[in-house]
Amino acid sequence: MKLRNRLLMSIGALFATTSFLAGSCYAQGNYPNKAVTLVVPFSAGGPTDAVARLIAVPMGKELGQTVIVENTVGAGGTIAATRVARANPDGYTIFINHMGMATAPALYKKLPYDPLKDFEYIGQVVDVPMVLLGRKNFPPNNLKELEAYIKANKEKVTIANAGPGSVSQLCGLLFMSREEVELTSVPYKGTGPALTDLLGGQVDLLCDQTTQTVSYIKSNMVKTYGVTTAKRLSALPNVPTLQEQGLKGFEVKAWHGLYTPKGTPPAVLAKLNKALQTALNNPEVKSRLAESNIEVVPMSKVTPASLKEQLESEVNKWGPIIRKAGAYAD
Ligand code: MLT
Repeated sequence: MKLRNRLLMSIGALFATTSFLAGSCYAQGNYPNKAVTLVVPFSAGGPTDAVARLIAVPMGKELGQTVIVENTVGAGGTIAATRVARANPDGYTIFINHMGMATAPALYKKLPYDPLKDFEYIGQVVDVPMVLLGRKNFPPNNLKELEAYIKANKEKVTIANAGPGSVSQLCGLLFMSREEVELTSVPYKGTGPALTDLLGGQVDLLCDQTTQTVSYIKSNMVKTYGVTTAKRLSALPNVPTLQEQGLKGFEVKAWHGLYTPKGTPPAVLAKLNKALQTALNNPEVKSRLAESNIEVVPMSKVTPASLKEQLESEVNKWGPIIRKAGAYAD
C-alpha cells in the first residue's frame, strides 16, 4: 500500500475513533434526547404498575423527556428482567422491580440473566405493606375462622398470586407454611387481574400489596384477615396485624428498586438517580402513596450503592430459604 493511502487510512481511523468518542460523550451530555421506556414486569393496573406510573410523570419532567411505561409480563417478572438485561445500556430502557429480583435466582432453575451482574442500580424506591384478603362471600370473617375453614377444606381453598417470584406468591407460601397447609395456588400475570377475580368471586384468597386494595377494604368489598406488617397501618387502623393474631414474626413488605442494563454510563445513571429522587420528593406523589400506606424510602436509600447492598443481602437471605423449601419454577 502506498504511503499516502496508509496515511489516509490512519487519519480515517483516527477520525472515526474521535468522532465515536465525541459522539458518545455528546450522547451522554445530551441525555436524554428521546423518550425513556420504564419496563414494568407485571400487568397494567397492578401495584408495581401503579408505582411506576406515579413516578414516571415527575421523572419525565425532571429529565425533560416523556417516560413511557411498558408492561412486559409473565414468569413472575423474569421475562421483563431478561428483556432489560439484554437492552442497550444507553439509559433509554429502565426497569422497576420488587424483591422478585432477589428471589428469582433461587426460584428459577434456568434464569437467563444474573440480577447481581447484568444490571446497574439507580436507587431504592418504596416499601409496600401487604394484606391477606378473601372474596366478599367467602365464609370466614376473621383469621381464626379462616384457620378453621382451611383445616376443614384444605386444597379446595384457592389462593391467587402473580407467579413464581412474585411477592403475592411469597406471602401465600409463608402463610401456608405457618398454617401447615397446602392450598391451591392460582397464578396470574400480576395481582391487578388477580384482584379483579377476587372481587368477582372466582378465587378465595389473595395476599396483595396495599397499593390498590385499601379502598376495597374500606368499602367492605373483600374480607380482610390481617396486614403483614409488625404494626397496624394508619390507612387501615381497624385491620389487625397477622402477628397480633398469633402468627408471630409474619412480616412481608415489598421493597422496590430501579435498574438499568449493565454498562449504562455513570453520567446517565446520575441523571436518572436525580430524576428518581425528585419524583419521590414530589408532594403529590408522596400523598398519593401515603393513601395506600406506601413508604417512600429515606433519600439515603435512593442511591445506587444502597440498592446494590439491599439486592445482595436479599439474594443471600432468600436463596437458602427457597432452596430449603424446594420451591422451584421451570
Ligand atoms: C404486581 O404488580 O402485579 C405485583 O407486584 C405482583 C406481585 O408480585 O405480587
